[in-house]
Amino acid sequence: MSFDTIIKEIYEEIKQIDNIGKIASYIPELLKVDSNSFGVYFSSNKGDNLGVGDYQDKFSIQSIAKVLSLSLAYSIKGELIWERLGVEPSGTSYNSLTQLETDRGIPRNPFINAGAIVITDILISNLPEYRKSFLDFVQALSGKKTINYSEKIAASEKEVGYRNIALCNFIKSFGNIKNNPEDVLDFYFDICSLEMNCEELSTSFSFLANQGINPYNNTQILTKSQSKRINALMQTCGFYDESGEFAFKVGLPGKSGVGGGIVAIHPGEYVISVWSPKLNKKGNSFKGIRFLEKFTTESRFSIF
Ligand code: DON
Repeated sequence: MSFDTIIKEIYEEIKQIDNIGKIASYIPELLKVDSNSFGVYFSSNKGDNLGVGDYQDKFSIQSIAKVLSLSLAYSIKGELIWERLGVEPSGTSYNSLTQLETDRGIPRNPFINAGAIVITDILISNLPEYRKSFLDFVQALSGKKTINYSEKIAASEKEVGYRNIALCNFIKSFGNIKNNPEDVLDFYFDICSLEMNCEELSTSFSFLANQGINPYNNTQILTKSQSKRINALMQTCGFYDESGEFAFKVGLPGKSGVGGGIVAIHPGEYVISVWSPKLNKKGNSFKGIRFLEKFTTESRFSIF
């Protein structure tokens, strides 16, 4: 059976199942989305592309953007970034504060909020026009100038961002935030507010399926080794305290966001993006995970 047929069949099957998930409600603006939205975009290194359902509708990519901010920081600072944060799964939820006290302000990995906040601080220290530079970087990855921050979503999150404010100030107290916490948080909320559709998401992540090289314009974003490491981090930490289960069920490196998006990568082969806004208890897309589990099982095309 071809990929096209498998994807279309699984899409129809998962579309019908009862969705027991819930839209993220702690960011009020996210509640405005149509909860039945469901889109998929598959893009292979060989040039096969397929979009199904709402794959052209934009959504808030939220924590998925943490992979892109990490990639930019890694390309600028190289291995030095690992002096400021770890590479271990935390086994905690994305917004947990608990380990920071014993870990003296060094976040366990770059995908929990604490780690992504430190990465944001690194970008501010190294890029005079950080807000513009990050957007330029993301737009260049996909060649899509239409990708942008959402001021509404960033403002909505800022208004209720108590845990992130606590995280940033707590890390600052250990000296692992160098800039003004308010500037770091504003930029962190901007990064999380990026909006993309499934097609743009798959395209933006293609460099991670191509050993660090953007296949659309042949630019080297990361070295082969850095690309390997980011994929390894997505495999072990991309779904917080559900990372083991995602590896077990899906068998691909991936990253989720509370907007209901998931991007998954088969290095050397393909990128697949799924969007369905209702989340499971761990904050990851309920149907997104179901879809990807079926896809890698039926296509027998995972990394394991
Ligand atoms: O910082 C937050 O809470 C959100 N901007 C991002 C969290 C997120 O997407 C977690 N992922 N599943």
